[in-house]
Amino acid sequence: DERTFVMVKPDGVNRGLIGEIVSRFEDRGLQLVGAKFIQIDEELAHEHYGEHADKPFFDGLVEFITSDPVFAMVWEGADATRQVRAMVGETDPAESAPGTIRGDFGLDLGHNVIHASDHEDEGANVREIDLFFDDEELVDWTRSGTTWVYEDVEE
Ligand code: GTP
Ligand code: MG
Repeated sequence: DERTFVMVKPDGVNRGLIGEIVSRFEDRGLQLVGAKFIQIDEELAHEHYGEHADKPFFDGLVEFITSDPVFAMVWEGADATRQVRAMVGETDPAESAPGTIRGDFGLDLGHNVIHASDHEDEGANVREIDLFFDDEELVDWTRSGTTWVYEDVEE
């Protein structure tokens, strides 16, 4: 199944939202295949947010994402990248619907709690997983109960 990269940002970590956010993906039926609690350094921040290097908010974004730890995860499931983005909401929490993570936990564009790979950016999920995780840090397994999530489980 498809895998996608998700990260609770330093604001979400400081606000104690890791458990809540993990629960939402678990409750949806997605399967965790990797996770780590790390502090992003300058180099990794520049690689991860390279597409925004020319934007006026770039320096602030790098400063924020390196300011405190993040909780990085890889989630697996059918259409995972698009489904997770739908659960995350819009880039700006103020524009995000209630029920989405940013719509429930954020109010400010620069502190929007969570990152998830962009489904409209082809291959972003694979690139970001590779950037943050070594192959041996990802676990191949099938969560118990998966037959109750999907009508047809491919095994
Ligand atoms: P990510 O999941 O973090 O990549 O968010 P996104 O894909 O919804 O948005 P995008 O990749 O366009 O922007 C990356 C991050 O930069 C956003 O999550 C915001 O925190 C920040 N950002 C984007 N646009 C602005 C802006 O206009 N001003 C400020 N201050 N921050 C911005
Ligand atoms: Mg993005």
